This record gives sequence, C-alpha cells and structure tokens, in this order.
Amino acid sequence: MTNPDETFRDDGRRRNRTSGPDRVVEVHGVSIEEGILPVNRMNGHEDRPATALVVGAGGGIGRSVVRRLSGRGFAMVGIGRNQDRLNEVEGLDERRVCDATSFEDLDEVVRSIVEDPERPPLGAIINLAGCITLKPAHLIDEKTWNDTIAQKLTTAFTCVRSAGRHMKEGGSVVLVSTVAAGIGLANHEAIAAAGAGVEGLARSAAATYAGRGLRVNVVAPALVDTPMASRITSSERALEHSRKMHPLGRIGTPEDVSPAIEWLATEDSGWITGQVIGVDGGLSRVRSG
Ligand SMILES: NC(=O)c1ccc[n+]([C@@H]2O[C@H](COP(=O)([O-])OP(=O)(O)OC[C@H]3O[C@@H](n4cnc5c(N)ncnc54)[C@H](OP(=O)(O)O)[C@@H]3O)[C@@H](O)[C@H]2O)c1
Repeated sequence: MTNPDETFRDDGRRRNRTSGPDRVVEVHGVSIEEGILPVNRMNGHEDRPATALVVGAGGGIGRSVVRRLSGRGFAMVGIGRNQDRLNEVEGLDERRVCDATSFEDLDEVVRSIVEDPERPPLGAIINLAGCITLKPAHLIDEKTWNDTIAQKLTTAFTCVRSAGRHMKEGGSVVLVSTVAAGIGLANHEAIAAAGAGVEGLARSAAATYAGRGLRVNVVAPALVDTPMASRITSSERALEHSRKMHPLGRIGTPEDVSPAIEWLATEDSGWITGQVIGVDGGLSRVRSG
C-alpha cells in the first residue's frame, strides 16, 4: 500500500511531503499549521513559505483575497493593468502592471517569480480578472463579445498555461467563473459562455497536471458587491431585484467569496481538483419560495 506521506513526481519517483498536519510554525507573528501550506513549499523559505500570484489584485474580490493570503504568510505578488489601483492594495509584497490577456506578458511575470532564488516558490496563481456583460445576444456586438472572452476566458487560460509551464512541483490554480455558467440566466449569454469555458478549461487542466500535484479549481460567484457590479448595485431597483433572486436574500460581499478562494489556494484543499464551487447565496441550486 502507498504511504500517505509520500507523493509522486511527474517521472513517477516518490518524494516525501515536507509538510505535516500537526506542526505549528510562526509566520509574521501568526501561528500556522504546516499542513495548510502547499506541499514541498518549505525549502529554505520557512519564514515565508510560498508565493501567491493574484491577477486582478486591485479589484473588490482581489483585495480581500490578498488580505487573507498575506495573513496566512504567503509572499504576495499582485497583477493589474493600473499601477495606481495596485498601489492602494495592502498586503502586496510586489506589484506588477501586466495585461493578463497577453500570453507573453503574463508568462514573463510567472517565469520571473519562479526563477527568482530569493523568493519563496510559487504555490498559487489566482485569476480574478474578468467582467460582467449583461445584454441579450442580439444586442452584443463583435467587440463586446471579443472583450468578454478576452477578459474572462483568455486571462484564465494564460494563468493555466503559465502554471503548466513553470509550476513543475505542483501547487494550485484558482479561477473564477460565474453562477451564469451553470444555470440559465437571461441576458448573460456572453459572460455565461466565457464562464462555462473557464470551467471546462479547469477540468481539462486538472486532469493534465494532476500527476505533478498541480490542482486547478473554480469558484463560481453570483452577484458580489464590487466595483465591477456597480452598475447594478448603484440602482436601488436593480439591487432589490438582485437581492430577491438570491435564496439567502442578499447579494454577496468580497468577504463571502474570498474564503473559498483562500481554501482552494492552500493545501487545506489538497485532495480537491477539477471542481467548481458555487459561492452564490444559493442561486445555482436552491428555490426558496
Ligand atoms: N462582482 C460580481 O458580481 C461577480 C459575479 C460573478 C463573477 N465575478 C468574477 O469575479 C472576478 C473578480 O471580480 P470583481 O468583482 O472583484 O471585479 P473588479 O473589482 O472589477 O476586479 C477585477 C480586477 O481585475 C483587474 N483586471 C481586469 N482585467 C485585467 C487584465 N486583462 N489583466 C490584469 N488585470 C485585469 C482589474 O484591474 P485593472 O483594471 O487595474 O487592470 C480589477 O482590479 C471576475 O472574474 C468577475 O468576472 C464577479
């Protein structure tokens, strides 16, 4: 029988897990069980056990994710297209301006993290770039469609691609789709298509990279109160309609969504891959009326 304390490399050779579930380490004054840290992420970096890269760190959900992961002792690198927005984010150790739709630019950021010997190994990539496109298909022009796919699906793909190229010792990729990918919501055709693409991408990549311990999972939120949703949340009528749509009677906050992302980014979820987790006030599965 296989020793549960051993994992297998791409080449089939056994390696020992460097983390155990019950030893506690102090990271920046915070007590952390070693078991929560990414497997094999401790080599020479006991003070800062792993690096997490957050694409869209300056956004509503992004800031909350950065706060949580930096509190867990991750060295944090944030990406966005706007330096000023990134500068406002607390908890980032490094800020990189990059358009994540570019294969080359995103890959250069990931490569530079992985090849920096001074930096803890890259344990997680989290993609929060995206958009909300709310129009029926017949009112969507070509540019809006292409932008929606680029922002939502291409950014997810560049993250998976670069994780596949550089995270040779495993880790976690967390993508974000939308509740509309799994349930028919009117006027969501473009974003639903992009979100469903993200979910298919994650399942395939999870299969491709499982052998090296690289996990790929998705969080699928319903409406969350962030700058992206401001067109809806700034209208009392639209907001009330949205509240009623969610069985739990309210829209989400970034703090409702970030714990699921944090969990998927760490080894707490070390036996989970290829999954889509709905964080949606019950919208995808529940009828309360
Ligand atoms: N809020 C919702 O109701 C809701 C619902 C379902 C799903 N989601 C999804 O959840 C994720 C996070 O959304 P959010 O509400 O936190 O949005 P947000 O507040 O608008 O944040 C998104 C962040 O991504 C950055 N970004 C966008 N495109 C980028 C690109 N090409 N390259 C690099 N950075 C980019 C933006 O910063 P810059 O503009 O500075 O680049 C922004 O800081 C998105 O995928 C969104 O589709 C949100």
